[in-house]
Amino acid sequence: MTAVIISGKEIADKKRQEIAEEVKSLKENGIVPGLAVVLVGDNHASRTYVKNKEKACKELGMYSVLIELPEETSEGELLDKIHELNNDKQIHGILVQLPIPKHIDETKVIESISPDKDVDGFHPINIGRMMTGQNAFLPCTPFGIMVMLEEAGISVAGKDVVVVGRSNIVGKPVGQLLLNQHATVTYCHSKTKDLKFHTRQADILVAAVGIANFITADHIKEGAVVIDVGINRNEAGKLCGDVAFDEVSEVAGYITPVPKGVGPMTITMLMYNTLKSARESAERS
Ligand code: GUN
Repeated sequence: MTAVIISGKEIADKKRQEIAEEVKSLKENGIVPGLAVVLVGDNHASRTYVKNKEKACKELGMYSVLIELPEETSEGELLDKIHELNNDKQIHGILVQLPIPKHIDETKVIESISPDKDVDGFHPINIGRMMTGQNAFLPCTPFGIMVMLEEAGISVAGKDVVVVGRSNIVGKPVGQLLLNQHATVTYCHSKTKDLKFHTRQADILVAAVGIANFITADHIKEGAVVIDVGINRNEAGKLCGDVAFDEVSEVAGYITPVPKGVGPMTITMLMYNTLKSARESAERS
């Protein structure tokens, strides 16, 4: 079998067009969705991610501000900045790019962002709302995965899903969203006794481990859907996922590539969340 490739790039392009149209119609009513991105310190990868977020805002007609703070910024200074953004009417979404310097408490920072502007979906209030199936900002990568499955016509209800990885940003929430859609979900991680025993039963496998080519063909059930969240570099410095693409695509039914798979969906859902926030803010006032 040669797997069908689920193109995140194509799905993201389609969703971005829809978002741009909605932004246009909100603007006709005098509302411009606005995103504030806060970058503390000088992490090279973070700078690239943040630039891409700004670029996406511009392309979709949204307002964006980038707040760059030096590495030595104190926790108090960062919390003051967030407080200011919480009260800024032009700003509908606030994103503090992670990781932040070690002397600042990440939990405190996440909890200081207004849940109504938490477009990352990291605030415990949004996580609680997501768990209980209420209206919430959904974390962007898991949300993007759900949209990819939907757009590829893959139903989730009743499926055996295995999530490899249990981070707060991807693994845990993607399992929860799949459970909300009535999948039977198993989480595997570094302490799992027999990983292949679990992954070989998966109708849908989500790989979010952060190790290049970790998932090989012998982890996969024939015809399974394989979602690769990894963004790694192999020994040759080439971008690759957590899944050994060439061999796994011989066994799987569907597979997401790296690059142009889950990656483009993450920023797209951030744009979607910012638009949603602007819409809901207008409804409240
Ligand atoms: N760092 C890596 N991914 C993310 C993300 O999705 N949001 C934030 N705020 N920081 C990140």
